[in-house]
Amino acid sequence: MKKFKLILNLFVLTTTFNIIYGSQCTQDYQCGTYPYAACNGALNLGYGIAYNSNNKNLIVSGKYNSSDYGPFGYPYIFDLSTNVNNGSEATLETKNKISGEILYPGAGFTTFYKIYQYAPIHNYLYITFYQAGSNIYAMYDQATSTIKQILNIWGIPFTVGINKEETMTVFGEYGIYLINTIPKERSDFLNATVLYQNQITNGIILDGKDIYISTYDGKFYLGNTDCRNCTQDKLKLIYTDSSAQTSTGFLKVNDMIYYSNEGGIKGFSTQGDHPVQLTNDSISSMTTDGEKIYYITTGTTTSSFTNNGVVKSVTLPTPSSESNKPTLIYTPKSDNQCQCAVGFTGDKCEKCDGKVLWFNGIPQCTPINPVTGYPETCYTSQDCSNSQFINCNSNSHCECLPGFTATKNDCICSNGEVVWTQGYPSCVNHTSTQ
Ligand SMILES: *[C@@H]1O[C@H](CO)[C@@H](O)[C@H](O)[C@H]1NC(C)=O
Ligand SMILES: *[C@@H]1O[C@H](CO)[C@@H](O)[C@H](O)[C@H]1NC(C)=O
Ligand SMILES: *[C@@H]1O[C@H](CO)[C@@H](O)[C@H](O)[C@H]1NC(C)=O
Ligand SMILES: *[C@@H]1O[C@H](CO)[C@@H](O)[C@H](O)[C@H]1NC(C)=O
Ligand SMILES: *[C@@H]1O[C@H](CO)[C@@H](O)[C@H](O)[C@H]1NC(C)=O
Ligand SMILES: *[C@@H]1O[C@H](CO)[C@@H](O)[C@H](O)[C@H]1NC(C)=O
Repeated sequence: MKKFKLILNLFVLTTTFNIIYGSQCTQDYQCGTYPYAACNGALNLGYGIAYNSNNKNLIVSGKYNSSDYGPFGYPYIFDLSTNVNNGSEATLETKNKISGEILYPGAGFTTFYKIYQYAPIHNYLYITFYQAGSNIYAMYDQATSTIKQILNIWGIPFTVGINKEETMTVFGEYGIYLINTIPKERSDFLNATVLYQNQITNGIILDGKDIYISTYDGKFYLGNTDCRNCTQDKLKLIYTDSSAQTSTGFLKVNDMIYYSNEGGIKGFSTQGDHPVQLTNDSISSMTTDGEKIYYITTGTTTSSFTNNGVVKSVTLPTPSSESNKPTLIYTPKSDNQCQCAVGFTGDKCEKCDGKVLWFNGIPQCTPINPVTGYPETCYTSQDCSNSQFINCNSNSHCECLPGFTATKNDCICSNGEVVWTQGYPSCVNHTSTQ
């Protein structure tokens, strides 16, 4: 599986907030000077929703607008209550800030993408983010508040199903694979056993030894973890829906399979009968607590976040109650808190202990590495130092050109000679070429 490449950038989360405490704001100017400070406006929900059976809450993500302009500051992970009491909506609580976005559209472009899956026993939250043209499958460890990159998915249709006990995982790539653990690092995937060859999936569920998959041609199959390097024809076709070529969610509850896309949430029994349609709402993602399905509607989409998406729930049908109306449980709104531009601190978000990088009229403050003297993040090579021999690499890190040696604030050709070829410098070591 050499297709998987490790990306070395660290994407770290912290629980400390650069939020100015005190009275609530309604306008950016109350927080400081925009674009260094802003008052949170409406929340743009991120893709993905997961149910946390430990606290019976939902996990969602999002990024606030400023009160006057578009998306501002960090993406956040939130806890959303499932119960709508007393006619009000569910309550949203900020849990963690996600650091590491690089919104400059260069090689290092990095943005949070979605909440992928939650494993309640291990307390692992899987997310994906997008970096330098690839999707990165990563684990956000809530105990240490760090994000660990697991796999670079780059365009491969990639699906992961973990069993309830969190002891085994199947994943779909070009083929269906088994690993005897819950994924924590890239090597877990490299040691996988091939169960079915070639099969591409857009949804996968592992339940005991049963593997349910959905495919891009609207077919649903049943497989088994005992198969080894089986051909695709060993998968049993259980259901077909020609309108199910896209998938935004795939769940099994008791003897029913539910799947979602822009056409709503539909289901069928594991025997391939009893088709149901739970809602016609266009679905961006869904999850379940076993009694209800919770979902985010598609809304209008800007990059990784949905504008005007809302969270709803629908109670799963039982033989006695065939259809249930969805309930609106959360409409994104402002929390009326001030937020500093990424990396800035201070009462009015005026402090940057590092280098200020600008893109699209928005500043980001990145720390200076005390050893190299370079900023931790760069957009262009000019951000790194005045040296001609430094490059802002594809991970948005400052790096000396090949052959040059880093010294504080500069890259030098320490024991050789700078030779320019077609305008490109190299440091040639005469001793080693003799
Ligand atoms: C956030 O701002 C953008 C740009 O102004 C706007 O298109 C979008 O609808 C806003 N999102 C919400 C949730 O209001
Ligand atoms: C229910 O709502 C009413 C009116 O909004 C409010 O006065 C009351 O305190 C609420 N009760 C609870 C338990 O939240
Ligand atoms: C890979 O799998 C083999 C056999 O299942 C096992 O013996 C070995 O320890 C595994 N290696 C790693 C790095 O997990
Ligand atoms: C799986 O079977 C194919 C032939 O169908 C064979 O070429 C391949 O080496 C086998 N792979 C493994 C891992 O056994
Ligand atoms: C979905 O739309 C169809 C056709 O308009 C309608 O018959 C059906 O009742 C709707 N289903 C739900 C669950 O709203
Ligand atoms: C040239 O490179 C060799 C091996 O990389 C190194 O040992 C040597 O010190 C270098 N010589 C000079 C003059 O830099």
